[in-house]
Amino acid sequence: MLEFVEKGQGPALLFVHAFPFDHSMWDAQVRHLEARYRVITPDLPGFGLTPDRPWSIAGAGEELRELLDKLGVSACTVAGLSMGGYIAIPFTAKYPQRVSKLVLAHTRARSDTELEKAARNGMIATLGREGTATLPDKLLPRLLGSKASASVRESVRTRIAKVTVNAAVHAVEAMRDRGDSTALLGGIQCPVLVIAGDGDAIIKLEDSRNMAASLPKGTLEIIPNTGHLSNIEDPAAFNTALDRFL
Ligand code: MLT
Repeated sequence: MLEFVEKGQGPALLFVHAFPFDHSMWDAQVRHLEARYRVITPDLPGFGLTPDRPWSIAGAGEELRELLDKLGVSACTVAGLSMGGYIAIPFTAKYPQRVSKLVLAHTRARSDTELEKAARNGMIATLGREGTATLPDKLLPRLLGSKASASVRESVRTRIAKVTVNAAVHAVEAMRDRGDSTALLGGIQCPVLVIAGDGDAIIKLEDSRNMAASLPKGTLEIIPNTGHLSNIEDPAAFNTALDRFL
C-alpha cells in the first residue's frame, strides 16, 4: 500500500510525483487548492513516507486504485508529472471510470528507446558504484530551466539529496521497463490538460504538442521560462493553468 498525505475537502484530486521526489513536490499546489478540494498526494515506493521495494509502473497504477478504494473516492482528477504521468496514462486507460479529468505535466506516452534504456542502466551502475552523492549535480541541469531562481535550485537540490540508492535504483528500473502507452491516448475520453515547459530538457515541446493532439479532449498549456518542473519553477503559472482546467 502506498502512504499518502491528504488535505482539504471537496472534489478529490490525486497528484502523482516525479522522479526523484515525493508528495512534497506538490506543496505549492496543495496550499493553493486545499481550501476547495480534497487533495491526495501519494508517495511511490522508496520516496517520502512509503518504504522502499522493487515496483513497476503498472503495479503502481494498481496501488493508486487500491488507495482510491480505501479512501472511498469513486472518481477524481488525476495529475501526474513526468514519472507520475507514466503511471497516470495507463491507469486512466485501464480505469476510465475512476478519472474524471487528467493532467499530464512534463511527461510522455512512449516507452524508453534502446538508447534511453542504456542510459538508465548506466545510471543504475553509477548509483551502485558512487551512491547518490553525484545525483543532484547530474539531475539539476536536466530538471530545471535556465531561468530557475537560486532558491528553486537550492530547494530542488535539497529534495534530490534525500533520495536513497535503493529508491533511486528501483524507480529507474520501473521507468526503464515501462510499457508503451502511445496507442492508449486515442481511447482516453476525459478532458486532458497537457502541461509543458518551453525549456524542458527531458520532454520536448513538440512531443507534448503531439500528445495533446492525440488525445480526443486534449489541450496544451505551455508554461513559459520553465524546464521540467514548472509546478516548482513557476507555481503561480502552474496553479493558474490548473484552475482554468478544473
Ligand atoms: C521524472 O522527472 O520523473 C524523470 O526524470 C522522468 C524520466 O527520467 O524519464
